[in-house]
This record gives sequence, structure tokens and C-alpha cells, in this order.
Amino acid sequence: MSSLLLSRGGTYLYGSVFKTHILGCPCVMVSSPEAAKFVLSTRAHLFKPTFPASKERMLGKQAIFFNQGDYHGKLRKLVLRAFMPKAIKNIVSDIETIATNSLHSWVGRSINTFQEMKSFTFNVALLSIFGKDEVLYREDLKRCYYILEKGYNSMPINLPGTLFHKSMKARKELAQILAKIISTRRKLKHDHSDLLGSFMGDKEGLTDEQIADNVIGVIFAARDTTASVLTWIFKYLGENPSVLEAVTEEQLVIVRSKEECSGQDKALTWADTKKMPITSRVIQETLRVASILSFTFREAVEDVEYDGYLIPKGWKVLPLFRNIHHSPDIFPEPEKFDPSRFEVAPKPNTYMPFGNGTHACPGNELAKLEMLVLLHHLTTKYRWSMMSAQNGIQYGPFALPQNGLPIRLSTKT
Ligand code: HEM
Repeated sequence: MSSLLLSRGGTYLYGSVFKTHILGCPCVMVSSPEAAKFVLSTRAHLFKPTFPASKERMLGKQAIFFNQGDYHGKLRKLVLRAFMPKAIKNIVSDIETIATNSLHSWVGRSINTFQEMKSFTFNVALLSIFGKDEVLYREDLKRCYYILEKGYNSMPINLPGTLFHKSMKARKELAQILAKIISTRRKLKHDHSDLLGSFMGDKEGLTDEQIADNVIGVIFAARDTTASVLTWIFKYLGENPSVLEAVTEEQLVIVRSKEECSGQDKALTWADTKKMPITSRVIQETLRVASILSFTFREAVEDVEYDGYLIPKGWKVLPLFRNIHHSPDIFPEPEKFDPSRFEVAPKPNTYMPFGNGTHACPGNELAKLEMLVLLHHLTTKYRWSMMSAQNGIQYGPFALPQNGLPIRLSTKT
């Protein structure tokens, strides 16, 4: 069997599908759109998601990412219900308040863009999970989550004093806070259209532990990802003045149209965010160039044949998003930041910043919405300068401009 392994005619296949070893583990790297679709979508049941055991312990093994089959399908339905356009339409003005407060607090200071974006995206994540009700618990949730995240990449040694141990303690405290919120909601019996409401309202019923694992999981999935993309947008707009000018002009048209409608509420609406095609293309192009999730991990649950090659059971399979997004055959001059390339829709399965298939990102609409709202206020009211030339990339674990992109922000006169 192993002679057939990723080989045809006795030679290993290089190119779009090839074999390698990472940390002693045999892996199949997949960098063609067709093969990525096969693994993530058409034959997704043959490839289960796989993560380090320590991550599973911290987020909770019943979180959506680690599961397959009926339980996964049920969670997905509940998560999508809370994050589809119909549900998040109602929180545009609350996101706007978070954005304007954040921007205001950065004025005149040297800031680490990534750190501040994390704070913005964390607040939006809490809003989408708990609505506005649980303001009382926000600081405690924040405190515990910040301790928890310090342990994500630590050695999984659960002894007093270690980062991992502190992290696990914070994880327990988070679950207790969530149990308190859930019990209060059960007593009050109000309907909630946020994510917690969706988890609690399900007729089949999730246990408190399942809800806790998934709330913590969604915070994890929502915060650093969106914050990294926003950080890259600050960099690319800063380096491309003509693109920044076009975005600013598009956003000013919306500001002016609101000023003309005297007496009406000036808050941004869902409809306003649909009038931002240039800004949306900047987001699309940033997602492509930065490809903050360079790849994802799967594991073959049985021997699988693909295009005449055999992928043995237990082998890891890595769809390489970044390689697909940076292929010159698909995106000419791939290293160039050029939002106009998205004036034409990309070919199917060639663009997947939010993944593909059964585990594709259910939070993508919310991520795009919060970025559009922040960019609306950023470009119309503020200017920023980068503190020094920042050309390096660091991984934490998502791709990020070096040192989190230190900048200075000031108001436009
Ligand atoms: C720009 C920001 C974001 C990017 C680039 C991103 C990207 C991704 C990708 C590529 C996946 C699929 C991973 C895989 O197949 O292994 C994923 C899954 C997921 N994302 Fe996002 N994401 C972002 C923001 C968000 C937000 C804001 C939320 C929640 C509000 C969210 C919630 C999730 C969840 C729950 C999953 C797991 C889905 C499942 O396993 O069925 N993400 N994301």
C-alpha cells in the first residue's frame, strides 16, 4: 500500500499535492483548488479536523471545531442562526458605538495596532454572543479570557505556577461565569437573538458544558483572526494612498447622504454597509494577500484515494490556502496589493479566506461587517502614520505585520 502512497509510477508527486513530514508526522500538502475542495467539501466526511490535545483541553472538546457528524451539524445550525445577515443586521449601530469609542481612545497615542484591534474585536464578539445584557460580566469575562489565552501555546504541564495551570483555572472560572449568565436567563425567560440565545433556545437542548465550550470557542475564532486582518488593512491602506483616497471618498458619500437627510437617525445601517464596494474589495484583497490562516489541518479517517494517489488513514492533510491565494496562475502578480482584481469574481474554489465546505467560517458576515464599520469611521475622521518601516511578518499564530504594526492616530482637521 505504501508504495502507492502519493505516488504514480513509483515517484512521489510534487506540485499541487505532495508529501512531507512535520514534527515526525507524515503530512500531505494540498495546494490546488480542486484538491482543497475534495478535502474540505466534497469528501469532507473522510477528513476530520485535528488540533493539538492541549488546545482541545483549553477550548473544550465539545467546541464546534473538533467535531464531525450530527453534533457538529446541530452546532453549525445554531451558530449560523446567530451570525447570518438577518440576525446581525440589528447590531450594526451597537458595533458602530464600539468602533467610535475605540477610535476615540486611540487618538494622540502611539498604539500597537494589533493589540487595540484585539480589544475592538473582543468587544464585538461579546456583543454578538451576549447582546447588551451582560455588561455586568464583561470585565470578568475579559480578565479570565486574557489569562486563558496566555496558555494557548504554553507547554501543557498542569502544575501550580505554570502558564498552563493558570490558564486551566481561568477556563474553569469562565465556565462558572457563563453558568451564572445561563441560569439568570433561564429564570427571566426572555427571548434573545444573540449566540447564547441561539444555543439556549434549541429544542434538542445543549448542556451548560457544551454551551461553555462553544462560547469560549467562538471568542477564540472571532477575535485574533479579525484583529489580524484589520491590522493588515491599516498597513496596506497606509502604503497605498490612492486606494485610501478611493475608500475615503466612498465613505464620505455615505456621510454626506446622511447629513442631507435632516432629522433622521445618523447611525450606520446594514443598508449603508451594502454601499461600500471599494472598501469591501480592500477587505477581500487583504484577506487574499495576508492569508492570515495560511493553512488548516485535517486527518484522513480511512484510506482515501485522490486522483490515483492513496492517502493512508491517520495521515495529516493540509490544504494550503496561502499557496492557492498566491498562485500566479490564479491571481496574476500575486504579491501586489490590488483590490481592483476583485471587480471580477474569482473562479470557484480559488479564493477561500474563510475556508470551504462543512467547517467553513460561520462568522464571515460578522467579520466583514465589523471591519466595514470601523473603516467607515477610520477613513472619514482620522489619519494615521506608521512608526517605522514595517516589512517583516510574524506569526502569533496568525500572520501579522512585525511588532503588531505600531502607529500614531490623529483626528482630521
Ligand atoms: C476575518 C476574520 C476571520 C477569518 C479569516 C476566519 C477564517 C476561518 C476559517 C478559514 C475557518 C475554517 C477552518 C477550517 O476549515 O479548519 C473558520 C472557522 C470558524 N470560524 Fe472563522 N474566521 C474569521 C472570523 C470569525 C468570526 C468573527 C467568527 C465568529 C463570530 C468566527 C467563527 C468561526 C467558527 C465558529 C469556525 C468553526 C466552524 C466549524 O468548525 O464548523 N470566525 N474561520
